[in-house]
Amino acid sequence: MFAAIDALPVTAHPMTMFVTGIMALQTESNFARRYAEGMNKKDYWDAVFDDSMDLIARLPRVAAYIYRRKYHNNQHIQPNGLLDWAGNLAHMLGYEDESFKELMRLYMTIHADHEGGNVSAHTTHLVGSALSDPYLSLAAGMNGLAGPLHGLANQEVVKWITEMQKELKTEVPTKAQIEGYVKKTLGEGKVVPGYGHAVLRKTDPRFSAQQDFAKRHFPEDPLVQIVWNVYDVVPPILESLGKVKNPWPNVDAHSGALLVHYGMVEYEFYTVLFGVSRALGVLASLIWDRALGFALERPKSVTTDLVKAWIDGKDEIWGD
Ligand code: MLT
Repeated sequence: MFAAIDALPVTAHPMTMFVTGIMALQTESNFARRYAEGMNKKDYWDAVFDDSMDLIARLPRVAAYIYRRKYHNNQHIQPNGLLDWAGNLAHMLGYEDESFKELMRLYMTIHADHEGGNVSAHTTHLVGSALSDPYLSLAAGMNGLAGPLHGLANQEVVKWITEMQKELKTEVPTKAQIEGYVKKTLGEGKVVPGYGHAVLRKTDPRFSAQQDFAKRHFPEDPLVQIVWNVYDVVPPILESLGKVKNPWPNVDAHSGALLVHYGMVEYEFYTVLFGVSRALGVLASLIWDRALGFALERPKSVTTDLVKAWIDGKDEIWGD
């Protein structure tokens, strides 16, 4: 795994390194080995469980290896077996502050999953339905997480705020300045990163959990203040457009500001942290998929005649 990551240029995106690391570990899949040996399908869940536990144990090391390779001149930190899972991740990343460890515990909990329909969870489930092992399935899901409309949004939020500060030539823009910048962003046909959600219709509770953390630990932090001012300004503007289903912030609107507070400014890395946490949710679901014997998943196929009928408005012909 280390050699596979090292084979990539150091300029590669951390998510590319993360997926490469997961794929390099796939040689150790219990599921793939036992399947090749002729495992009974009643035992699939058991092999998926073993792979999931191995992966969950290893992912913090993979993530920390990427971080220290890319941003700390290959100065790696050995795991400390006396620490908890998230605390050990903080330690291997190079952050010993107790409150950063607490942040990692929160971060790892809230990013795990929240209903299974998002791109990374659904992709892991779909690829797993082909009986691809958990390493193959999770790597596929992580490729989805790397998209800017999904997990990459957390880096986009910090990038957007930094660009706003540069353009407005101020560290602490006023609400009026933020309002002008939001309108400019929308006017250029771009999205305000971290706002809106496919299913949530109110402020993401994961945003609020992070806001509570910041209120307790560093309410005066300038970047956190900007995030809160953006929260005051953006929803009314999006609501005024009339066609936005959810003008409220999601999980990604807040996470970057907390990491920056502790000095983790390398925003391209943030999605890897999201990925380590997301593994908890999607791998738990994958174990259930195999325990419940879910079938290979496939969208419905249609013929050209059916498409023509649909164009002619005879869509009842689609049946079930
Ligand atoms: C997530 O946690 O994956 C995001 O909120 C996106 C989603 O649920 O669609």
